[in-house]
Amino acid sequence: MSTNLHPTFDRMLPREAKERLLGQRGLVVWLYGLSGSGKSTLAHLLERQLHEQGRFTVVLDGDNVRTGLNNNLGFSDDDRRENIRRVAEVARLFAQAGVVTIASFITPKNALRDLAREIVGDADLLEVYVKASFETCAARDVKGLYAKAEAGGVKQFTGRDSAFEEPDRADLVIDTEAESESESLAKLLAAVNARIVAG
Ligand code: ADX
Repeated sequence: MSTNLHPTFDRMLPREAKERLLGQRGLVVWLYGLSGSGKSTLAHLLERQLHEQGRFTVVLDGDNVRTGLNNNLGFSDDDRRENIRRVAEVARLFAQAGVVTIASFITPKNALRDLAREIVGDADLLEVYVKASFETCAARDVKGLYAKAEAGGVKQFTGRDSAFEEPDRADLVIDTEAESESESLAKLLAAVNARIVAG
């Protein structure tokens, strides 16, 4: 635990001032689901649409963040928890600066989703389950990881050797097996827009 710290939160320029400047409310859109469910695709499509609407955004994506900030973490339960904890803290900082922050992480367990919610806070979180079955994701196998895991080449692979829990709640479910890309994007965009309009 940290000691001898003197945080200066009280001297920070208020969030409202930043949101006024940006003309939007900060929000964390947390996309979770299996690898290959469509999280990253949706994250990037959503960001482009929001950008065209004049919104200021940031995308935090598992594969990217794990090459930098979290490059010392693997896929054990403890490392996944630390991955989610750090990313939720970063997302919170962005949201408090008025940024529409799109986080895209497998977040395989309900306890990890709870942790993200605890850190970000109910008021600033839109929790979105990007749903597709293991079989569908394995058939898509965009990155070739499912075939590699099947051949024994990926340790602790989510949905195979490491559990993926169905969520016990979500603000929104995007079913990428049943919906077209544009349907999913429209649903997501509507839910986000309802939360970021400056009040
Ligand atoms: S999480 O479980 O900690 O939320 P995160 O979203 O950051 O995972 O990273 C998942 C990405 O890492 C996958 O999209 C995939 O490309 C890559 N990856 C590498 N090894 C694994 C593994 N064992 N299980 C799942 N994803 C893996």
